[in-house]
Amino acid sequence: MVNVAIMGHGVVGSGVAEILINYDKRISEKVKNDVNVKYILDLRDFPNLSYSEKFIKDFNIILEDESVKVVAEVMGGVNPAYDFVKSLLLAGKSVVTSNKELVAAKGAELIKIAEEKNVNFLFEASVGGGIPILRPLVQCLAANEITEISGILNGTTNYILNKMIVDNMDFDSALKLAQEKGYAEKNPAADIEGHDACRKICILAALAFGKHVYPEQVKTEGITNITLDDVAAADTFGYVIKLIANTQKLNNGKITASVRPTLVSRENIISGVNGVFNAVMVTGDQTGEVMFYGKGAGKEATASAVVADIMDCIKHLDSRKYLSWADGSEGYVETNRDEYGKLFVRLTCENFAELERKFGEIFGDTANFVKNQYRNEICFIAEPQYESELNKKLSQFENCESKTLHIL
Ligand code: HSE
Repeated sequence: MVNVAIMGHGVVGSGVAEILINYDKRISEKVKNDVNVKYILDLRDFPNLSYSEKFIKDFNIILEDESVKVVAEVMGGVNPAYDFVKSLLLAGKSVVTSNKELVAAKGAELIKIAEEKNVNFLFEASVGGGIPILRPLVQCLAANEITEISGILNGTTNYILNKMIVDNMDFDSALKLAQEKGYAEKNPAADIEGHDACRKICILAALAFGKHVYPEQVKTEGITNITLDDVAAADTFGYVIKLIANTQKLNNGKITASVRPTLVSRENIISGVNGVFNAVMVTGDQTGEVMFYGKGAGKEATASAVVADIMDCIKHLDSRKYLSWADGSEGYVETNRDEYGKLFVRLTCENFAELERKFGEIFGDTANFVKNQYRNEICFIAEPQYESELNKKLSQFENCESKTLHIL
């Protein structure tokens, strides 16, 4: 029999407990060993559950119990999760986690400790919820050089944007719905300001390109500035707005990473990824584009990935799964790249006649644009050019407001 412990009984933690306890026969058969949830750590009381007797409040009980071989950390946040996970690995226990904040901040260090102690530190659930993405990236795509990873990595913002696009629902109501469904982080700022997607692209970049990427090195913008007007303007040109996380390997050996609201053509398969679903497009030099799609948030989907990691640890109690990267280094992530590409622009001026005149003068008559004189606005898709060039042109529109969005 293998004893496991679960730290945290929130949305994901309760899902993990329920799968392990309700489907114990299926799980034990698959790992060829009896799996027993010995402890669940949580400061709250859960007196009415069928497994109430498993709850403890003292972390040291898990740490000091030599019979506990695998621990699931599903508490979230860096502290105290980091101290707990580090102590457990040092004590020779395997740890699995869904905590992207922890992995993005401390992954390289925790992986190194796991290597030294010959135990496993697995985190499949930290990216893409229930979507298998980390193992396929390092195992099934191992023969490739990965050049780019791009996609929708946050279910909450995708749910909100989808509600705005399809139901014309305002931002706050859509966020409330996402929270009720258990998709959002404890602090929704992590979702709507892009930090959650940023942590996930850091993990994917580290696995794909081999070195730790820190969240501070990623240009991150959330969806709080996206309005129903932006959504409608994008629609006029055949695009939907999605929060896209991207990382690329550059020719100079450096990498770049970003999270930002992006226009996605209705013809692009990513535009059809709706609700809480995530999609990750990985480009390999041998495979070309490979897409991973599924529920990126939610209790059961995320718990499924955590439990699979627990099962993998149990099957490999004496050996290590290969999932690692090296420390990051200064200058490795290029943060100020002048990007070349098409951009979507909304320009608003008090004086519409003047705006129209100047637009013709600077962008010419050939640009694909939509004029709305009732809102004193011109929207257009700027031809491919460097972002700095476009910004120079836009700066000539004095007393006007401009908003630019990237296009996938
Ligand atoms: N808040 C996250 C999301 C949960 O909405 O994607 C899954 O990581």
